[in-house]
Amino acid sequence: MHLTPDQTDMLDGGQGWPLQIAMEMLTAVGAALDAPDLIPVKSAHLVIDGTALGVAGRNFLERLVDEGGRFVIPASINAIAVDRTKPDMSADETDQIRMLEACEKMGALPSCSCNPFIQGLLPAFGEHVAWSESATAPFVNSVLGARTNREGATAVASALTGLAPRCGMHLDDNRRGEILLRVEADIAGVDRFSLLGALAGRLTGDRVPVLDGIGQTPSTDDYVAFGAAFAIHGAAAMFHIAGITPEAPDLETAFGGGVPVATIVDDAALDAEHARTATGTAGPVDIVSIGCPHASLDQLRSAAAMVVDQQAADRAGGHASPAVKFYIHTNRSTYDTASSEGVIGVLTGAGVSVTADNCAVVSYDRVPAGARLATNSAKMALFARSVSNAKILFGSTAQCIAAGLSGRWER
Ligand code: F3S
Repeated sequence: MHLTPDQTDMLDGGQGWPLQIAMEMLTAVGAALDAPDLIPVKSAHLVIDGTALGVAGRNFLERLVDEGGRFVIPASINAIAVDRTKPDMSADETDQIRMLEACEKMGALPSCSCNPFIQGLLPAFGEHVAWSESATAPFVNSVLGARTNREGATAVASALTGLAPRCGMHLDDNRRGEILLRVEADIAGVDRFSLLGALAGRLTGDRVPVLDGIGQTPSTDDYVAFGAAFAIHGAAAMFHIAGITPEAPDLETAFGGGVPVATIVDDAALDAEHARTATGTAGPVDIVSIGCPHASLDQLRSAAAMVVDQQAADRAGGHASPAVKFYIHTNRSTYDTASSEGVIGVLTGAGVSVTADNCAVVSYDRVPAGARLATNSAKMALFARSVSNAKILFGSTAQCIAAGLSGRWER
């Protein structure tokens, strides 16, 4: 890789250990991916999940601080594994907070969310950034038209240096469509967009898909649901929707020329994806998880309205079944706004736990093994199956709320 004299000095340790280790990470990844050089990036989004990084991650971040490491670009933080306001934290949870504090000392914004877009963190069209958390890359690339790879620990290195390898989604050629998915089904609601994302991810693997036939412009919540499921079921960092997303004004432009034969995504294909996702059957529910990725203010408001409607329809009184852990996950600032509007009060009054900062699987207190979990998110479904062998009950937000209040999944 070509490095400037200043970058070579960082790599040689002339500017301290934090920049040296950061440059070692970036040049190793860059060399593996044939990047010719490093490019400036404007922001970074960091995953510091303590359940994955453990004590080694804490030690690394604290050493960066001790040795003078400072972030030179705006850096936000993904969901962490504990609610920051939790009293009486375990040793693991305390370690997670120490990791967050280390990042804050280096200049990070403690956003603690896998859905930073609803917090106003929106890279501009054409901007190069270094964002980790697989769910963020499709939104950044596809919806905003900014440019990021699916970063991992390298996002910390980018935050320290303001640099990233010039490869992957930073290059025009890699952003063109490679497979056409013709959608011949009605897609409405985050559960359907999430299911479509899961199917699109599995059908396309590491190729960039172009979806055609989605009639309406998806809402931000729809895009977030689609992108999270797309990323976790596939390996691509970008999708296009013909006539809607910014780099796909039409099919020819999205593909950069010839349009390939379409793969059809119809109701039968989505039904099959639903059957793959929903491994549980009707009956009692142990856990309800809504808000993967973290719920927006609109989603919290609408969940509260649905709870009120369900309570009115429910002769039994409509308070969440004591046998069910009923979670809606969000971030701290959205929680605070919803709280000031009385939305959190309505939800908690009905027995819903609105969690901030973490979720049912990014948590030291995660879904118990074999639990029957109801969700409207194909990403949560896959994670809960993978980490806890959960039995998944998959459906709309309204179905999940009804299950949380009644304690049963009806089908
Ligand atoms: Fe966020 Fe947890 Fe889902 S971190 S994307 S709510 S698995």
